[in-house]
Amino acid sequence: MTRIGNSDLDVFPLALGGNVFGWTADRDASFEILDAFVAGGGNFIDTADSYSSWVPGNHGGESEEIIGQWLASRKPSNVVIATKVSQHPDFQGLSANNVRSAAEASLKRLGVDHIDLYYAHFDDPSVLLGETVNAFANLVSDGLVRHVGVSNYSAARIHEWLGFAHRASAALPVAIQPHYNLVHRDPESAIVPLAQEYDISLVPYYALASGFLTGKYRSADTAGDSPRAQGAARYATPQGLRIIDTLEEIGKDHKASIATTALAWLRERPAVVAPIASASRSAQVHDLLASAIVELTADEVHRLDEVSQPDPV
Ligand SMILES: NC(=O)c1ccc[n+]([C@@H]2O[C@H](COP(=O)([O-])OP(=O)(O)OC[C@H]3O[C@@H](n4cnc5c(N)ncnc54)[C@H](OP(=O)(O)O)[C@@H]3O)[C@@H](O)[C@H]2O)c1
Repeated sequence: MTRIGNSDLDVFPLALGGNVFGWTADRDASFEILDAFVAGGGNFIDTADSYSSWVPGNHGGESEEIIGQWLASRKPSNVVIATKVSQHPDFQGLSANNVRSAAEASLKRLGVDHIDLYYAHFDDPSVLLGETVNAFANLVSDGLVRHVGVSNYSAARIHEWLGFAHRASAALPVAIQPHYNLVHRDPESAIVPLAQEYDISLVPYYALASGFLTGKYRSADTAGDSPRAQGAARYATPQGLRIIDTLEEIGKDHKASIATTALAWLRERPAVVAPIASASRSAQVHDLLASAIVELTADEVHRLDEVSQPDPV
């Protein structure tokens, strides 16, 4: 277990992504995935109120509902649930009223009396940041939320958030959720240093680059039956494939899959507390969990750093 920033939340160092629930995993498959995750020691589950509104026939909230049904059925003792606000079709943006209403709706769907970690999903420049910061702080002081996080925010806007929160003596963000993996290292320029300076944990999403970092897309033309295939296969560039080859070579020495090795690299990056990866079926969960125990050597980390070095612009 590892602690998220300055919070009191202790989590397994790999979070289970919840955007599959109600999308590529139906209720039964979702229960199997969640059961396998917890049986293997996992306890950190990531969702959002909007998941999975993009699926025809869905409206948003399906992922939280499935997680809520699973929590009610299994009554696990130490799970940490993270969810997010701003993208649900009925609860768009980060005005104070919307943040409060969306949080109440999430609590209802999840069937819990508090949210462990509540993220602003995307920045909303149409609302004064101070209003959003206060709305989150009020959720914490009213006991609806234990800790605050931000996702997809620029470093400059996180600085602003911290300034507002300090001045109001409001709850500070304990986690940042950026898009970060071996084929997308953008957060290293500004977000990682900021996280280190303020002791905020990183919880990176797309940790497997939508499946590319499992090694199953060896060509940009790879057709797959997953709705993620197109998004994932676009990373099959010459450099992307060199990264996969290096992961495969390094993984052999650890008896670890390409996916496990990619997640282990990310877990060991500065400020990262737990990469988020999803599974569309329970058989995939083992590779995710295994990343928590693989310790890459300094030389292996160096090789992966080098092969994934972003091209200078
Ligand atoms: N904050 C944000 O804005 C944001 C944005 C996106 C995602 N997220 C969060 O991050 C989570 C992870 O993102 P993601 O699910 O889109 O991408 P991901 O974790 O990078 O990719 C996961 C996908 O890879 C495939 N996979 C996983 N394990 C595998 C294995 N062992 N072997 C082969 N394939 C495997 C599965 O898809 P297939 O079986 O379909 O190939 C799985 O759904 C989401 O669930 C969500 O919680 C947050």
